[in-house]
Amino acid sequence: MSTSQKIPAQDRPASGSDALQWTQALLDGRRTTLPKRLQSPGPDAAQQAAILTAAAAAPDHGQLLPWRFIEIPQDRRAELAQAFAAALLERDPDASTDEQAQAREKAYRAPWLLLAVCRLRGGDPDIPGQERLLSAGCAIQNMLLLASAAGYGSGLTSGKALTSQALRQLFALHDDEDALCFINFGTVSEVRRGKPRPDSSAYFSRLGD
Ligand SMILES: Cc1cc2nc3c(=O)[nH]c(=O)nc-3n(C[C@H](O)[C@H](O)[C@H](O)COP(=O)(O)O)c2cc1C
Repeated sequence: MSTSQKIPAQDRPASGSDALQWTQALLDGRRTTLPKRLQSPGPDAAQQAAILTAAAAAPDHGQLLPWRFIEIPQDRRAELAQAFAAALLERDPDASTDEQAQAREKAYRAPWLLLAVCRLRGGDPDIPGQERLLSAGCAIQNMLLLASAAGYGSGLTSGKALTSQALRQLFALHDDEDALCFINFGTVSEVRRGKPRPDSSAYFSRLGD
């Protein structure tokens, strides 16, 4: 019996030469766009829902759902700006007003901004933190690819503020949660050449070679 006879059509994964070509084009086309080059419009409500749904297609050992995403709407960006400035002062009490203003400004860039959070500890002890982190990475990549397919630019941003008390308090993170990165989405204002991808020989070997 062929595979197509065994699996009902509605359950069959997309496969075949079209799916292969689309997927390769999607993977090749996805590249980081920094928030300063992301402008309005961001994804609309239906596109946001599709991007969030894409996350749920990630592998998740034990179905722990160890990750979550918190949107920072435009009318709450001032609070994020305040947390960025407070985070800077936590690690450098002598930071100048200019440096604080630069830290604040970063909160306002991307039209659609999410914080990725992962529960790396607690819960099922058989699923270690590294597996949860991998699941979060898969979920985030799914979101970036869906956004790319919908015609939007995206990029991840991190930085020392992620581990600050100011940021943890603003997002009311639980003790067993960590902020992984921000996910920025929007319309690409200026298309730039991407970084060349490494050749697979740089990260692949065969046991015995
Ligand atoms: C967890 C994580 C955090 C990142 N944080 C930043 C960041 O703060 N600033 C930045 O310019 N790029 C950041 N990046 C994006 C990488 O720099 C980017 O993926 C890399 O340059 C490759 O570019 P590409 O995504 O276009 O292939 C981050 C990537 C990851 C996975």
